[in-house]
This record gives sequence, structure tokens and C-alpha cells, in this order.
Amino acid sequence: APLAGVIGWPIAHSRSPILHGYWLKRYSIDGHYIPMPVLPENLAETLRALPRLGFVGVNVTIPHKEAVLTLADVVTDRAALIGAANTLIFRPDGKIHADNTDGYGFIANLRHSIPEWNPDQGPAAVIGAGGAARAVVASLLDSGVAELRISNRTRVRSEQIRAEFGARVIVYDWAQAGNMLENATTVVNATSLGMQGKQPLRIPLDALSADALVTDLVYTPLVTPFLAEAQIRGCRTVDGLGMLLHQAAPGFERWFGQRPAIDDETRRVLL
Ligand code: ATR
Repeated sequence: APLAGVIGWPIAHSRSPILHGYWLKRYSIDGHYIPMPVLPENLAETLRALPRLGFVGVNVTIPHKEAVLTLADVVTDRAALIGAANTLIFRPDGKIHADNTDGYGFIANLRHSIPEWNPDQGPAAVIGAGGAARAVVASLLDSGVAELRISNRTRVRSEQIRAEFGARVIVYDWAQAGNMLENATTVVNATSLGMQGKQPLRIPLDALSADALVTDLVYTPLVTPFLAEAQIRGCRTVDGLGMLLHQAAPGFERWFGQRPAIDDETRRVLL
């Protein structure tokens, strides 16, 4: 039976084993998906050992998403651009293939949730410039967004993104984050603000148009204070749980040979 899993430290909170376990059962696949706590100092040794133990690949989470790039034999362009990988494939020839499906998951979730959404209808506004934001920026630019505005508490991180991703990226100061919402048609919270136990994201929404699609990468709670405010202003909103489901599908398909369904039943498994 093929083995896959997720490596991280800590790993107990990962929802990936529940999701992949559900899909394995749903498709009657004789395989296993195992959560594995791996300390940073054991990462290289672990990646050498897993293929020999029958693993066909793994998901990678904090704190290993960046480090695995230097240990992989083949790194996809998007993983290199984002600077992190979340999906590894152990190929039959022994080579480790590293990819990042977060940006794909982000776009697939929006397209799936709002079929008429079109990334090139107008400017996109991204709040945050961490690892998750980099995947969002890469995928939005890849989908044809002509102007991508970004604002982050630590300004140099957004300037770094502009330096790497090019002139379609426009940096806004954190104190003026509300200004970038003016005529934006896609608005994304890619910070961790609004998560259970953290403070909410507080930026002025006066410039937000009711035509904008507003989404949040935070999915606990499903409706963050930011999404709730956007709904009051008449915006369509998309929660972050779908991104988690969609980013997982390509790995599952490559490891187990079956494209998994993402439907309401799948969502319920993670709620
Ligand atoms: P991830 O990989 O999940 O994106 P990260 O790289 O730590 O995690 O990024 C977290 C994001 O949330 C960053 O944009 C961070 O802003 P900084 O770059 O200034 O740290 C943002 N963030 C977290 N807590 C915040 C807070 N209290 N106020 C504003 N932004 C915050």
C-alpha cells in the first residue's frame, strides 16, 4: 500500500491527515496518510529515509516549507518563485520533486466558489506579505491580474515582493492599507489576523466597493470579522477552508492516482 503523510513540527494540529484519510476511504484506496513530527535537525535524514520506507510523497508544513527546497532534486518554477514547497513527490528514480500548490489552491477555491469571478476585471489588493501572501501574489499575477496592491505591517516584506515579482506590484504603507481598496475587485486577507484567539484585522473599509470579491486565508472561524464586515458592505465573500481543500488535491492525485472530489461533504469532514 502506498504511503504518504505530512511532515512538520509540531504536527498534531494539522488537518491534512483527516482530509486525506477521508479521501482514501471514499475511493477505497489501499493507502495511508500519516502525520509525522520532524525536528529541523532531522529533516534531511527523514527525506532520505521516507522513500525507502514506501512513501510516495509528503506534504510539508511549518517550519520546513523553505528548507525542503534546498534538499529537493527538482523544484518547480512556482515553488522557486514563492520560496517554499508544500508538496513533495518521491519519484521512482529516487529524485525528490518539490512543488507549491498553495497558489493553485487559492485560485481554484475562488473559481469554484464564484464561477463568474475574473481575476483580470480590476486591481487586486493583498493584505500581508508572509509565506502565504507570496503564494497568493504569485497565483494572482499568473492568472492575469494587471495591478496587484500589497500592504504589510512590516513594509520591507512587501517591498521584497515587489522586487521579486515585478512592476505590476504596488506597495502601500500599512498606515494607508485602506486606500488600496479603492476600485479593487479582489481583496485578500493573507495575514493571520482574525484567527481565533488573535486580534481582528482592522483596516478602514470605506473605500471597499460592493462589487469586490473578498476572501480570507484564515478559516477558524469560517466567517472572520473581516469577512463579516465585507458582507455588511454587500460584498461576495469566500472563506479560507476551500483553499485548504484545493491545495491538497494535486498531491493526493499524484500519490494515489485518483483526482479527489471537493464538495460539501468534503468540507464537512474538516468542520
Ligand atoms: P504565513 O506563512 O502563514 O503567511 P508569516 O510569514 O508569519 O506566516 O506571515 C504572517 C503575516 O501576518 C505577515 O504578513 C504578518 O505581518 P509582518 O510581516 O509584519 O509580521 C502578519 N501579521 C501577523 N500578526 C500581525 C499583527 N498583529 N498586525 C499586523 N500584521 C500581522
